[in-house]
Parts: sequence; C-alpha cells; structure tokens
Amino acid sequence: MTETLDIKISRTTASRLQQTDFDNLPFGKTFSDHMFVADYADGEWKNLSVIPYGEIGLSPAISALHYGQAFFEGLKAYKHADGKITVFRPDKNAIRFNKSAERLCMPTLPEEIFLQSIATLVDLDRDWVPSKPNHALYIRPFMFATDPYLGVTPSSTYKYMVLIGPVGPYFSKPLRVKIETHYTRAAEGGMGYAKAAGNYGSSMLPARKATEEGFDQLIWTDAKEHKFIEEMGAANAMFLLDGKLITAEAKDTILDGVTRDTVIALAKEWGITVEERKVSVAEIVEGAKNGKLTDAFGAGTAATIAPVASISYEGQEYFLSDPKTREFSNKVFDTLDAIKYGNVPDTHNWNYLV
Ligand code: PLP
Ligand code: COI
Repeated sequence: MTETLDIKISRTTASRLQQTDFDNLPFGKTFSDHMFVADYADGEWKNLSVIPYGEIGLSPAISALHYGQAFFEGLKAYKHADGKITVFRPDKNAIRFNKSAERLCMPTLPEEIFLQSIATLVDLDRDWVPSKPNHALYIRPFMFATDPYLGVTPSSTYKYMVLIGPVGPYFSKPLRVKIETHYTRAAEGGMGYAKAAGNYGSSMLPARKATEEGFDQLIWTDAKEHKFIEEMGAANAMFLLDGKLITAEAKDTILDGVTRDTVIALAKEWGITVEERKVSVAEIVEGAKNGKLTDAFGAGTAATIAPVASISYEGQEYFLSDPKTREFSNKVFDTLDAIKYGNVPDTHNWNYLV
C-alpha cells in the first residue's frame, strides 16, 4: 500500500457474531457487523467510512433503481491455519471494477480506495472469517447511482459500498447444465464483460425456466447463432477436451473471471495446452458423446470449481465421467485451496495479507 487513506470508523455496540451459526451458512444471507460506504459528488470520492451494517436511507427516485446504473464485484478472504487472513487477488477485481464503471458511464474508483476499503473492513470484522474447510468470507463491493432524477442521463452522485459475510459452498453437488439456445446473456457491443446488475436481472427468467426443467445451471451461448459456448451461469465455463483446456476467449460478451485466469495460469504451469478461443456447442456435445470431454466445470469466486455432471442440448442429456475421478478439476480445486488457505507457498503473490 502506498498511502493510508482517511477512513472514519464507527463501531457497532451490538455485535451479532455470537448469534451467528457458522455451521449453517447459506450463500449471501449472513452479513458481518460492519460495512464500508463512500460518496461520490463534485467529481471526487469522499466520506470514506466504516459503519455498522444496516439499512440506509435512499430516495425512491435514485437513478440506479430506474435505469440500472449499478454494478458489483465478488471476492473472498480466507483464514489460514496460523490465523492469518488473506484476500485472493483483489488487484484483479479492482481493475474489473473500473471496467464495469466505465461501461456504465459511472466514475472510476482509485485502486487504493478499493483495496483499503476491503482491508479495513475485513480487519475490523476479522472474527467473521470462517475457519472451516470450503468456507470463506465473501466480499461484495458495489457502486450505484444516487441522483434523485428521472431523466435518462448519467447520475452526478454515487455510492460505493462493501458488504462482507461468511459463506459456505455455493453449489452443493455436481451440476446438470443445459445449453441455452433461446435466451441470451450478452451480445457483442453490450455489457457482458461488466459486472452490471442488469446482466444478472436478465438472467433470472431463463435460469428459473431451466430450474423448472430440472437443471441446475445454464450454459450461455452467443447471441447471434447460439452455436458457441460463452459462460456457465455466474461462472466461466471450462472444458478438458482431447487433453487440452479450452474456454471461451475473454471478449466483450464474457466476464473475464479471476478464477478463470488463475486456472489458466496453473494449467500452463502444469504443461497443459490452453486454448482461449471460440468453443463450439458441436465439439462439446461430440466430446461428451465420444468420451473425449474428460472434464467440464464452472470457474468463479462463489462457484469455486463447480463440476458439471451432465450437459443437455436439444432435449438430450449427456452424462460425463464421475466428477470424483476427474484428474484435472480435482487437482485445480485442491491446488487453489492450498494456495488460498496458505497451506503451500504463494509463489504467484496472489494472496493479499489483511
Ligand atoms: N462469469 C460471470 C457471469 C460471473 O458472475 C462470475 C462471477 O463472478 C464469473 C464469470 C467468474 O468470475 P470470477 O472468477 O472473477 O469470480
Ligand atoms: C461471484 O462469484 O462473486 C459472483 O458474482 C457470483 C454471484 C452473482 C453469486
């Protein structure tokens, strides 16, 4: 860190830590005692503060509610066996945060504010970081427009906030996924590469329909022809086909995932050929049929490494090998875990000490 920012801290007098059941942590429902908040006005970020977690008063006319000038990030902090707490690759999220901001015509946030808001909040609520395997502290930075004005124009005021809370695994079992050929998550020239709130809003109807059909997640395909695989729910889709790791290239319809980047880096170190390119539905379905698709998983912060049990396409369901026996994704999962929880040296400098 190059400079220490002036962050005002108001502590709660009533911690909820003792009443929190750390053995029952559904994703995203438990929040720690504090949250971070800052305001943007007159062209600068001000009022950097940590305050007790709770409701905030807002005008019903804020433009975030009407026109969707809102986006977020997701990252995690881990407790090591020696009690140290580290955040995984927050510098990557800081960069993506500003890509989202620019796409939505919102102000960027200096990387120092992003990193120090997280460090200050996680440090204050460090007792909220779970120590159980497969558990972590989820960190949710977000920004939204606060001008109480119904004109369709970029807001001149914004809030940046960070919430944190302990989480267990996002998915409890290998996923039955369906290749979506009607709805679209992102189109070229759109905002798929941004973590815009609206991208998630638009995914809910197709996701619900897939759930009603018995599937756990969707595989999104390209908007033009639905012939190329883009992402898997709120994770990047990755495959081991013919011994090569293949995944859609990061372009404007794809969220450039930190987990994806990490998996690619590890695979290259292990001497595996990595192809970031157009991935056709046809080759994945063919690989599932002829057994050359030996691994398939979603990669994401919440999802971690989420194995795919089966892939459905045009009414046919293709089951892949037993996820427990898959060499690549299990090795990635274990290696990532070992790095994040500090059980092996962090040779890549991915862990950011709080
Ligand atoms: N793609 C989408 C649409 C996501 O929401 C996420 C989750 O953040 C990812 C991919 C994976 O990104 P990351 O590994 O940075 O969490
Ligand atoms: C994350 O992995 O951080 C995500 O953003 C997924 C989330 C939408 C649950």
